[in-house]
Amino acid sequence: MAEKSPLRVAVTGAAGNVSYALLFRIAAGEMFGPDQPVILQLLEIPVEGPQKALKGVAMELDDCAFPLLKGMVLTDNPDAAFGDADWCLLVGSKPRGPGMERADLLKDNGKIFIGQGRSIDAVAAKTTRVCVVGNPCNTNCMIAADQAKRLSPDQFTAMVRLDQNRAQTQLAQKAGVVVTSVSDLYIYGNHSPTMFADFTHAKIGGKPAAEVIGDDAWLKTEFLPTVGKRGGAIVEARGVSSAGSAANAVVDYVRDLATPGTVHAVAVATHGAYGFADGLWAGMPVRSTATGYEAITNIDMNDFAKSRIAITNEELVGERDTVKEMLGA
Ligand code: NAD
Ligand code: LMR
Repeated sequence: MAEKSPLRVAVTGAAGNVSYALLFRIAAGEMFGPDQPVILQLLEIPVEGPQKALKGVAMELDDCAFPLLKGMVLTDNPDAAFGDADWCLLVGSKPRGPGMERADLLKDNGKIFIGQGRSIDAVAAKTTRVCVVGNPCNTNCMIAADQAKRLSPDQFTAMVRLDQNRAQTQLAQKAGVVVTSVSDLYIYGNHSPTMFADFTHAKIGGKPAAEVIGDDAWLKTEFLPTVGKRGGAIVEARGVSSAGSAANAVVDYVRDLATPGTVHAVAVATHGAYGFADGLWAGMPVRSTATGYEAITNIDMNDFAKSRIAITNEELVGERDTVKEMLGA
């Protein structure tokens, strides 16, 4: 069979910690499959240290002799990085340190996504898919998507997959089962402590998770905060934010977006679903299709779930308010 033509994958913040755990896995075929060649288009800021580090990362990628890696572009120019890109993975931005919330990064990081959104809209492939990882990722994604004129804002999504993976492990450990026994567990709302990891529809071994766990108080007062504050717990423990698990989640998120039929949690444009204000980017389950995804918007929520979604919606509305001068430009 003829070799597939390479996918152009742009990655920003390519000399950073998350990228260091991510790029090798993309080049190894874990994201787009073992028969899909890739060209990595790597963006770093125009500063000597990161540019030098980026060259080092590229040397290491070369030294892996990955059969699927058909080329690399190393650049400080967004238009060169995003040119004809099939996928734009926006990782580059400041991470939080101990004692900070992700929203504290908004003013600094938000503006990165104006210029990058504009560049992607101008030069990326018409069918490009934009995946935002840099925090606070929901609102950064909204800022980038706000620049979309040629592209559709629905081509822009943000990552809540790390939260889905964290939630799955917490339920599995509590129930004493393997992680693969946990299913139907999706994240609603913001990638922040207000997120709602919907245990009310989750299943363990095909049975309702709440029945198997049999401890409503634990689900509400331990499980939810543990998942919601896990990023902070990692920052406190490591002194820097998650990188290995974050990169692993990027692989899961993008691979599943590229795999039609897969159902997984992604932060997408809300279009009023689940009572989210219109025009926010909020986590919810989606089903991947051949060209994009369909948000799954018909899951019945009980009063508890509705009240949690209302809280995370309110926070997203507040973040939008904080960056209002970055929108509509
Ligand atoms: P890092 O500081 O190690 O790396 C970030 C890199 O981005 C740096 O090399 C920096 O030079 C580069 N950068 C900054 N501005 C840029 C720009 N305008 N264009 C291109 N590159 C730019 O940080 P990290 O640990 O790799 O984390 C990156 C981001 O990912 C942070 O915002 C972090 O909070 C976020 N993150 C999100 C999740 C999630 O679940 N959504 C998980 C982990 C990390
Ligand atoms: C995470 O959830 O680990 C990342 O978003 C990093 C952070 O600041 O929490």
